[in-house]
Amino acid sequence: MHFKEHGVILKKAGEAIEKVSYRGMDIELLASYDGTEIIKHYLHKGARWSVGPTPNWDALEFIYILSGELHLLIDENQYQLNSGDYVKMLPIKSTCIFQADENTEFIYATSKPVFHSYSQTIEQLKDLGIAVEEKDGYTADHCSRIMRISMLIGERLKLRATELLYLNLGAFLHDIGKIHIPDSILQKPEKLTKEEWDEIKKHPIYGHDILTQTNLPSLIQAAKIVEQHHERYDGKGYPYGLKENEITIGASIVSVADSYDAMTTDRVYRKALTEEEALAQLIEGSGSMYNPEVVQAFLSIYENFKKRGEKL
Ligand SMILES: [Fe+2]
Repeated sequence: MHFKEHGVILKKAGEAIEKVSYRGMDIELLASYDGTEIIKHYLHKGARWSVGPTPNWDALEFIYILSGELHLLIDENQYQLNSGDYVKMLPIKSTCIFQADENTEFIYATSKPVFHSYSQTIEQLKDLGIAVEEKDGYTADHCSRIMRISMLIGERLKLRATELLYLNLGAFLHDIGKIHIPDSILQKPEKLTKEEWDEIKKHPIYGHDILTQTNLPSLIQAAKIVEQHHERYDGKGYPYGLKENEITIGASIVSVADSYDAMTTDRVYRKALTEEEALAQLIEGSGSMYNPEVVQAFLSIYENFKKRGEKL
């Protein structure tokens, strides 16, 4: 509704200029003028949202919690935020991750425009996510589960907020490189030839290149995790045969989460292992396949879930 003579525009709830939905987030651009943007975020319980520094970025950013409950992670620090709390950044110097503990609504205001670059990033990620789903008989559930388990391990290992952000992206997109592997190889029911297997082994490199080519800083960082997710702690993995601490911690985490999820899921060629059998395999591979610290963190998370009677 316009009251032109008064210079007033009245909008009803839900009448946003632009809307984007992505992985548990609904984002609405409510108003923008001369670079200033007012954006409303709705984070579903468990969803994460982040803001971080950008070179030459000098703007006021302001977040006001309308309802719900979330926590803010800055480096290794955590802060609880509730309705009425607010965060001011001028300019932001470290990545901040906001994780919704309940369904949460907040207003994000910034004195420089972000919505367009931001929704473009989201669209690119969405496309990449869909591309993964269409390949290799995976579903988005597989990627989401790996992302969730990886984040639990990352938090347990007290990774810094920026590393958690890259882990979140790298875990979800770990197999994105498979979009460059022919279906005739990926979906071949018979045993693969050596040449075909060599081609499959290139998917971490393809994935790295796809993410790097987006030119988005956080995806470029996540590319390292994607590139190394099949490396082994003992150096017998691929593509580079990196070992121990040469492998980025994010990739070591995704490796454990990916293996556990693959083992406990039915595939066309075999039935799922029980959780206990899968855990036994992780323990057996600790120090050879997997980083022992990561296996240890995973086991304690598993035990905690079990104690609470919840399923991981
Ligand atoms: Fe993979």
